Amino acid sequence: MAELKNDRFLRALLKQPVDVTPVWMMRQAGRYLPEYRATRTRAGSFMDLCKNPELACEVTIQPLERFPLDAAILFSDILTVPDAMGLGLRFAEGEGPIFDRPVRSAADVDRLFVPDPEGELKYVMDAVRTIRRELNGRVPLIGFSGSPWTLATYMVEGGSSKEFAHVKGMLYDQPALMHKLLDVTAQAVTQYLNAQVDAGAQALMIFDTWGGALTPRDYQEFSLRYMTKIVSGLKREADGRKVPVVLFTKGGGQWLESMAEAGADALGLDWTVDIGAARARVGDKVALQGNMDPCVLYASPERIRAEVASILAAYGQGSGHVFNLGHGIHQHVNPEHAAAFVEAVHELSASYHP
Ligand code: CP3
Repeated sequence: MAELKNDRFLRALLKQPVDVTPVWMMRQAGRYLPEYRATRTRAGSFMDLCKNPELACEVTIQPLERFPLDAAILFSDILTVPDAMGLGLRFAEGEGPIFDRPVRSAADVDRLFVPDPEGELKYVMDAVRTIRRELNGRVPLIGFSGSPWTLATYMVEGGSSKEFAHVKGMLYDQPALMHKLLDVTAQAVTQYLNAQVDAGAQALMIFDTWGGALTPRDYQEFSLRYMTKIVSGLKREADGRKVPVVLFTKGGGQWLESMAEAGADALGLDWTVDIGAARARVGDKVALQGNMDPCVLYASPERIRAEVASILAAYGQGSGHVFNLGHGIHQHVNPEHAAAFVEAVHELSASYHP
C-alpha cells in the first residue's frame, strides 16, 4: 500500500501534533456538486451509484479535486446494512429512503440475519478497495456505518420519520424485542466495519443521527450501549497504524462524558455545543470533530471565515481537533462557499499549532 502523503486527519484523531487543523465535511460527496449530480444521472439512481464501485470511487474523489480536504469518506449509505438484512431498500425521488419490508413484529425480528460483508455487501467492500487504490495515499479513507439505534429507526418506521411512532412504540412496549433487534444489528455493524478495515478503511465513524431523540436513560440503554459493544469488537490497527474510531450522536451534547467512556478515539459534535466547553468536559480522553452549523455555508465567505475563526479560538491551542460541519452539507450550498470554509480552516489554524 502506498505511503500516506497527508496523515494530519489520523494524527489529530490520536491527539498527535499537526501543522494545521485537518478538515473534511460530512456528505462532502453529494448533491451540492454539479459533477456529483452528473455521475448520479449516469448511474441511474442513488442506489445504483452506491452499488457501482467505479462510480462510487469517482464521486468519493470529486470533492478532493475541488478542495484540499484532509480525508475522503467512502461513498455509500448507512442503510446498505438493513438492505442486506433483507428489508428491501429503495430511494423514491424526493421522498428519501423506503424499506419494502419494515420490521414491526417478533416474527420480523426473528427473520433478521447478520449479512456476510463479502457476500450481500461485497459491493461496499469493492468500493473501499477501489477508492483506496485510486487515492494512492493522498489522504486517509474513512469507513462508516449507522449506529444500531439509528438503523433501527429506519428499519421499524420503514423510512425517515419525525415522530418515531413505531420504533418508540416498540422500545416502550416491547423492550426485549427492541434489544433483540439492536443486538443482531450491532453484530451486523461490527462485521461490516471490520470488513471495511480489511478492505482498506483507515478510520471509522459511527453515525448515530437519531440518538438525540431518546431520553437520557434510553440513550444509554438503547444507543450508547450498542455503540460501546461495537467499538469493543473493532479491529483497531491496519498496515501497522491505528485505525481511529469516531462516534457521532446528533443531539448528544448533553452526554459527552459518557460517550467519552465508550472506547472511541474521538467524538463528533453537532453545532449546539460550544467546542471549548466540550473539550473541557472530555479532557484528554478523546479528540473532537466538528462543529460548524452547516447553514453558515449559506452566508458570505467573510462570515464563514469569521465563524471558522471563532470555533478555532474556542477549541484553543494544540491537536485533537478535526474541523467539520455539525451535520451534512446541504444540497443548495454554493461549492465556492465550501472552498472558502476549507481554506479558512487551514489558514487560520496554523497559529494554534506552533
Ligand atoms: O459523507 C459522505 O459524503 C459519504 C456518503 C454518505 C451518504 N449518506 C450519502 C448520501 C453518508 C456518510 C451517509 C450517511 C447517512 N445516510 C446518514 C447518517 C448521517 C446523517 O446525515 O445524519 C443517514 C441518516 C442516512 C440515510 C439517508 N440517506 C437519508 C435519510 C437519505 C435521504 C435524505 C436526502 O438527503 O435526500 C439518504 C440519501 C443520501 N445518502 C444522499 C447522499 C449523497 C442523497 C441521495 C441522492 O443523491 O439523491
